[in-house]
Amino acid sequence: MIQFTYESENDEEAVENLLDLVFSPTRFNLSSYSLRIKVPKIRTLCYIVKNSNGSIIGVIRNWPILIGDRKKLSLLMGPIAVHPTFQGEGLGAYLINKSIKEAKKYGWERAILIGDINYYKPFGFYQQNKNKIGFPPPTDPKRVLLIELQKNSFKGVTGIVQKF
Ligand SMILES: CC(C)(COP(=O)(O)OP(=O)(O)OC[C@H]1O[C@@H](n2cnc3c(N)ncnc32)[C@H](O)[C@@H]1OP(=O)(O)O)[C@@H](O)C(=O)NCCC(=O)NCCS
Repeated sequence: MIQFTYESENDEEAVENLLDLVFSPTRFNLSSYSLRIKVPKIRTLCYIVKNSNGSIIGVIRNWPILIGDRKKLSLLMGPIAVHPTFQGEGLGAYLINKSIKEAKKYGWERAILIGDINYYKPFGFYQQNKNKIGFPPPTDPKRVLLIELQKNSFKGVTGIVQKF
């Protein structure tokens, strides 16, 4: 049976192994990782999926970030990963929807995610049209996706994404 639960500290190693498998260990070179180093993740917004053996087959994590000179507190959603054997079965969609729903519930106003718009659009993510929000290089601006968790929460939010 598939089980969805919070990620605990004991899951850390298995989650890192899953992320290495899905993204390869070069993932640490991605600019989004520079925003995560030494910043605690938001435990209430980190979920895992376990299969019937208790193996971790899916994960979503969220980190805090700040945007622009006004240091607007926001979420960096991801990484999101599903073990290759279990991809395409709806687990990723469940994790993303759960994360969005809980983030709204906790009062988070906005989130950024680096990914493919074709996959994330159905969840409410969109590409910014004037690149008012800058992400640390070398990220392709087309992959910088935004989602409003509260209405109009990106209005007037501009600048570079910084570490929390
Ligand atoms: C991306 C990922 C998390 C999606 O999880 P998943 O469990 O395989 O996806 P789901 O089964 O929930 O798919 C949800 C929908 O997205 C579609 N989809 C899946 N991957 C897609 C892609 N790369 N591009 C466009 N659509 C995609 C599915 O067809 C499905 O559509 P449907 O509901 O209309 O049938 C997973 O495939 C994965 O780990 N991929 C490699 C790592 C990655 O790219 N992570 C995201 C970057 S942070």
